[in-house]
Amino acid sequence: MVNNLWYKNAVFYQISIRAFKDSNGDGRGDLNGLTEKLDYLQTLGVDCIWIMPIYPSPLRDDGYDIADYYSVDSAYGSLDQFKVLIEAAHRRDIRIIMDLVLNHTSDAHPWFQSARSDRNSPYRDYYVWSDTDEKYKDARIIFVDTEKSNWTWDEKAGQYFWHRFYSTQPDLNYDNPNVQEEMLNVARFWLDLGIDGFRADAVPYLFEREGTNCENLPETHAYLKKLRAFMDEHYPGRILLCEANQWPEDVRPYFGDGDEFHMGFHFPIMPRIYMALKKGRYEDMAQIMRRTPPIPENCQWCTFLRNHDELTLEMVTEEERQWMWKEYAPEPRMKLNLGIRRRLAPLLDNDRRKIELANSLLFTLPGSPIVYYGDEIGMGDNLDLPDRNGVRTPMQWDDSPHAGFTSGTPFTEPIQQGVLGYQHVNVASQLKDPNSLFHTIQKMIRLRKKHTAFSGSDMQWVETGNPAVAVYVREHDGETIIVLNNLSDVHQTVRLPTAHQKIGRELFSDRSFTLKEQVTLQPYSYLWFLAEY
Ligand code: GLC
Repeated sequence: MVNNLWYKNAVFYQISIRAFKDSNGDGRGDLNGLTEKLDYLQTLGVDCIWIMPIYPSPLRDDGYDIADYYSVDSAYGSLDQFKVLIEAAHRRDIRIIMDLVLNHTSDAHPWFQSARSDRNSPYRDYYVWSDTDEKYKDARIIFVDTEKSNWTWDEKAGQYFWHRFYSTQPDLNYDNPNVQEEMLNVARFWLDLGIDGFRADAVPYLFEREGTNCENLPETHAYLKKLRAFMDEHYPGRILLCEANQWPEDVRPYFGDGDEFHMGFHFPIMPRIYMALKKGRYEDMAQIMRRTPPIPENCQWCTFLRNHDELTLEMVTEEERQWMWKEYAPEPRMKLNLGIRRRLAPLLDNDRRKIELANSLLFTLPGSPIVYYGDEIGMGDNLDLPDRNGVRTPMQWDDSPHAGFTSGTPFTEPIQQGVLGYQHVNVASQLKDPNSLFHTIQKMIRLRKKHTAFSGSDMQWVETGNPAVAVYVREHDGETIIVLNNLSDVHQTVRLPTAHQKIGRELFSDRSFTLKEQVTLQPYSYLWFLAEY
């Protein structure tokens, strides 16, 4: 039987095709490269791959600037190869979702080219134009390091055009019904090819209205509901994952009554996991989880530690942001916009205990976890590369030249310096080593999927009198798991209330014992305790 709620208990894996595996020696990763590596992903145990944009693009924003919605950039392969990839993944019970960039196109898109060169073009009204740069003053600027305004003067058009991201990414005009229709056609095209759904990029910004901050507008929700209804009607079981970098109460409407998005990223919990690890206290995490409203039964959060962007600090207070920068971005070049452009392992001092602990939190919190490619082996970053490119370096497959990523000249060198260089950190050596990070993450994935307690939305914090140990209970379908995470670098003892003093089994060690009143945890250690009686 087809399980249309598969995403509620799935582990996701995010991939940049360009950086994953090159199959033809041109130095850029491609679709065939990913197809070759599906066995690896099956071994890791993931259920669904999210691939970042593969559309033809001038790459001013790494493919989030699309020049043609109906094909694959030739550097990555062809539509036929894409179909082969989807079929090969499906044979392994792995699903694939891809980015759907609704908000904007590239300025190289033929619609924009036509729109800017002729006021009477049928495409003129596909974009948002103005004679002044005074409208929508309350909309914030997102790429603060590069953009001074959301309006850019276009000489050819003789008007300003509106853009929420780079000035090479003009926003589409969703007040135009043709635009709305076009994007449904785009969705249909990829769904017909067999894709399992979309990570819908930057959805809060579809509409503009004077006197608002132009985010999360009712018109935007109405359109997204249309997209969902279209998918439910023609493609049941395929999903929409919402990228709305917002507070939990503002993401909540994106789930609608279970009739808008199936999933939404939980942005605010992410920086608080890093805060917890650095402060050795869990209260910030608990606070944001308490502030997270319940979501409809057929919906699920998506949790993550890192992704292809800067570690965003938009969902923290100004004071917290300064603190995070001080603690995690000691060098100015580590900062980008309102975030930090580093990977998981270097952020956590390449300390295996901290990396595992962060993952313990990721895999046991409510929501379906997403692993960013390379983080399962503890890959590093390259701060010499501009923008977010430093966290999008080639996957480190083995210790042969260019990390086994390509037989040609790579688009950018894999990390080669220091302890995180590919000579030390690579898939081949970790597959061989039963104690490697890879095998720990593999085990976490296996346990996460096996135990239905993790798939529910229920989470109860347990008060133990010790602020350094995050203790919570996950309960679902008759299964109870008590999770204990010592966030500090010293031994900690907690006092468990009687209700949680249980007989059971710790899932990692497979050791059976009784959780007594007093439990002592090693520095940065974690227990996933399955209560059996
Ligand atoms: C999303 C993507 C980011 C991109 C932006 C504009 O936030 O994650 O990489 O730059 O949208 O499309």
